[in-house]
Amino acid sequence: MGLGIAFVSAVHAKVPVLLHDKSAAQIKSGLSLMDKLLAKDVSKGKITQEAAKEARDRVAVVDDMKKFRDADMVVEAVSENLALKQGIFRSLSADLSPKTILATNTSSISITKIAASTIPEGKTASDPEGQASTSRVVGLHFFNPVPVMKLVELIAAVQTSKETLERARAFAIACGKEVSSSQDVPGFVANALLMPFLNEAIMCLEKGVATREDIDKTFKLGMNHPMGPLQLADFIGLDTCLAIQQTLYTGTGDSKYRPSVLLERMVDAQWLGKKSGKGFYDYPSE
Ligand code: 3HC
Repeated sequence: MGLGIAFVSAVHAKVPVLLHDKSAAQIKSGLSLMDKLLAKDVSKGKITQEAAKEARDRVAVVDDMKKFRDADMVVEAVSENLALKQGIFRSLSADLSPKTILATNTSSISITKIAASTIPEGKTASDPEGQASTSRVVGLHFFNPVPVMKLVELIAAVQTSKETLERARAFAIACGKEVSSSQDVPGFVANALLMPFLNEAIMCLEKGVATREDIDKTFKLGMNHPMGPLQLADFIGLDTCLAIQQTLYTGTGDSKYRPSVLLERMVDAQWLGKKSGKGFYDYPSE
C-alpha cells in the first residue's frame, strides 16, 4: 500500500516523494510495480510519456527516516501492529520538523493511541510540547489497490488539530481521492462493517454451508461485488484481516467481532492469501 500511496502522490498530487522501507527487496518490487503502472497508463493514453517520466523522477528512496526531516507530511503504512507503529511515530516526532504532519494508514488501530506515543520524554500530554506533537497526528486510510480505489477515510485522533485535519484532507483530494470522515473507533467505518462480513463468509465456509466458489459467486453475481468475500480476504491478506478483527474484538469487547477459528488456523499455517501464494485460493507465482 505504501507504493500505491507514493504512486498517487507523485502522479496525481505531483509532489516529491521519499520512500523508505526496511526491506530493500520490497523497495525493488515496489518501484518495478510503479514502472509497470506508469507504462500501462502511458499505453492507455491516460498520461503522456513525459508526465510519466516526471512522476517517476519525483520518487526517491531514502535509507533513513530522518531524511523525511523537512517533509510536509509522512504517511506510515507498516503492518497492523500498535507497538511497531508507536515506535515509528515516537522516532518521527523526535526527528522531524514540528510542521510535518504524521499520518497513519492504519486500518483499525486507535489514532489517539498512536498520537499519544509522540509525547516527548519527560513531558505530559498537556505540556505545550505534548500538545504540539500529538496535534499533528492523523489517520489517512487508503484502500487497496490505492491507484484504483477512489476513497480515503480521514480520522481525527482526540488530539488532532483542525489545521492538521484540513491539510490531510487537502492532500487526499490532491491525490485524486474522495474523502469520508470517521470517528476514531476500532476499524473506523470501513473495517467495522467490512470485517464482520468477511468473517461471516469464512464461518460459512468453516460450517460447510457452501463451497468457497458458491460463497464468492453469491456476492459477485447476486450483489455485483467486484470480488467475493473470500477472494477479497485473500486480496487484503489474511494476516491483515485477522489483525483488524482482533483490534475490533478487543477494542469493543463485542463477540460479534470474534475472528473465526479457520481464519486463525490459516494465518498460523502462513496461508496469508494472494501475497503468500496460498489462502482460500491458490495463486501460482507469475
Ligand atoms: N495496483 C494498481 N492498479 C491495479 C492493481 C494494483 N494492484 N490491480 C488492478 N489494477 C488496475 C488495473 O491495472 C486496471 O486498470 P485500467 O482500468 O487502467 O486498465 C484496473 O485496476 C482493473 O483491473 P483488472 O481489469 O485487471 O481487474 P478487475 O477489473 O478484476 O479489477 C480490482 C481488479 C480493481 C482489484 C477489482 O477486483 C476490485 O475493485 N476489487 C475489490 C477491491 C476492494 O474491495 N478493495 C478494498 C479492500 S479493503 C481495504 O483496502 C481496506 C483495508 O484496510 C483492509
